Amino acid sequence: MSKPVTILAIESSCDETSCAISRDGLILSNIIANQTIHQQYGGVVPELASRAHIQHIVPVVDAAMKKAGCTTTDLTAIAFTQSPGLIGSLLVGSEFAKSLALALDLPLLAVHHMQAHVLANLIPNDPPSLAPAPRRPVPSFPFLCLTVSGGHTQIVLCHSPLHMEVIGETLDDAAGEAFDKSAKLLGLPYPGGPLIDKYALEGNPARFSFPEPQIPGLNFSFSGLKTAILYFLQDHIATDPGFVYANLNDICASIQARIISILLNKLKKAARQTGIKDCCIAGGVSANSGLRSAFRETGLTEGWKTFIPPFEYCTDNAAMIAITGHYKFLAGDFAPLSVSASARAEW
Ligand code: KG4
Ligand code: ZN
Repeated sequence: MSKPVTILAIESSCDETSCAISRDGLILSNIIANQTIHQQYGGVVPELASRAHIQHIVPVVDAAMKKAGCTTTDLTAIAFTQSPGLIGSLLVGSEFAKSLALALDLPLLAVHHMQAHVLANLIPNDPPSLAPAPRRPVPSFPFLCLTVSGGHTQIVLCHSPLHMEVIGETLDDAAGEAFDKSAKLLGLPYPGGPLIDKYALEGNPARFSFPEPQIPGLNFSFSGLKTAILYFLQDHIATDPGFVYANLNDICASIQARIISILLNKLKKAARQTGIKDCCIAGGVSANSGLRSAFRETGLTEGWKTFIPPFEYCTDNAAMIAITGHYKFLAGDFAPLSVSASARAEW
């Protein structure tokens, strides 16, 4: 019997330090260290993120190895997030991965963070933190993925694990930014997305109406929505300074409903244009409870098979880097030790 493919994967593109171990594509461990220090600054401070990664990376890798029951001799390859992201954050993970590959004489797998978000949908088991971790259904190729994160909003046509096409993307803000900037206008702390989600659960989404931008094709725009929310709040606060406090749940529900309809109307259009019926969501914003249920409902009316990663695989995590590394390993797509991290990268 041939040796199983055991991959140690590292994710450090923004403010989560994460390490996962996969064996033959199954996730054995997925440890994530969050950074709370940024909350007091209203956004991620790159220099502080790099320093926190340096503090977290050794304990996180150690915990992932222990949870997986692995020793270094079990490992077959080292995967890491090469791009895109904050350069200082990426450098911590990439230099650590390269050092490990060099010391253990193992091949290196350089992973694109946004491709990895998409491939989180191919992870065949629930997070090991939710023991027991049962098998999950995965989409068939070709499938569509709506990838919605803090920096990106894309509709991706996925032909095979390593052959993907971006067929629609945002022209300005990402969906996550739309959530976070709206939250900031409401005086909520960073990151505001999960808080809007929480308040929206108690609110009436039909109470206030925000405009849907008319962008041709499959592209998105969220900057107009942000401006509309700003003017809406200024007008109401001018006559009633307590307006936000008194109506927070309904405002959040109405903003969230509009962001979701912008996203899902484009995904519907993409599915109709391509005739594809296997549809996924991915990225931090796919943790949004309103988006998750609206996506499932849209799937029922449109006749789609819908796939949503568990929460732990939606926000930044190394399990998605491990599954992408696994497919790269099978394809023999290795990176040289001279590879460097990059803040921006086409794919
Ligand atoms: O994928 P991710 O963890 O990091 C990036 O690659 O950007 O996405 C982070 C984004 C943030 O904008 C955050 O506010 C948003 O995902 N987010 C949410 C929720 N959880 C995270 N947005 C709305 N509702 C949520 N429950
Ligand atoms: Zn991400």
